[in-house]
Amino acid sequence: MKEDKKFTVLDFMRKKESGEKITMLTAYDYPMASLIDRAGIDSVLVGDSLGMVVLGRESTVSVTMDEMIHHAKAVRRGVKRAFLIGDMPFMSYQASDEDAVRNAGRFIKESGCDAVKIEGGREICSRASAIIKVGIPVLGHVGLTPQSVSKLGGYKVQGKDESSAARLAGDVKHLTKAGCFAVILECIPKTLAKKISDKAGIPVIGIGAGVACDGQVLVTYDMIGYFDKFVPKFVKQYADISGTIFEAIRKFKLDIESGDFPDDEHSFTP
Ligand code: KIV
Repeated sequence: MKEDKKFTVLDFMRKKESGEKITMLTAYDYPMASLIDRAGIDSVLVGDSLGMVVLGRESTVSVTMDEMIHHAKAVRRGVKRAFLIGDMPFMSYQASDEDAVRNAGRFIKESGCDAVKIEGGREICSRASAIIKVGIPVLGHVGLTPQSVSKLGGYKVQGKDESSAARLAGDVKHLTKAGCFAVILECIPKTLAKKISDKAGIPVIGIGAGVACDGQVLVTYDMIGYFDKFVPKFVKQYADISGTIFEAIRKFKLDIESGDFPDDEHSFTP
């Protein structure tokens, strides 16, 4: 596929079928979205991880529709080619199919995202079908689902015993039947992820789920070493951006204090 051709919902399945890996990263603002898009990443997720990595909260649970839409609009301006997905925040779809359709519709209309993501397995399939019926593609998300962190008892690896592994595999089947175009599998053993990906009728995108998935997603601020409160085991850090920024800020401070900035190069002459 040519790097400048728009990645569409159909390209997810095309890549699974051809064995090419799908790439996805999160973004919350214009400059990062623009860099990710220009680097040729297939899909950008405006994740509700926003609450933790940008807004400094303890979990994603308090993130609102207004906050998601505000950030998604900025990301939209930076994404020209990648497929843009908006993450439906907690309680924007859980209560009823009507809520789910209304909020998904608002998300798409106001932000310009191409699709939405919802967390959960068989219990949210009627929400997924209702959203898809009005013409909005839905990405599923099972395994460690951060919006249910209290119910799960913390950020723990899921599907470790036989019955929870079977339930997870079943959830992916249900989401496939409901019409999801792909599903995210978060924080599960790599052997289980391989079994699920091999059998799944839709692309499986892993985060902390090993190499056998059809694609991979990471929270960008984790991957570039910008969010340093904690680093999950499954995150590979490709840069130390917080170290670079910290050094720049220190140099700026020292330059001002010593009178080295602004020098002639950065000053106007009459
Ligand atoms: O909110 C988010 O960034 C996500 C990804 C971790 C998949 O859901």
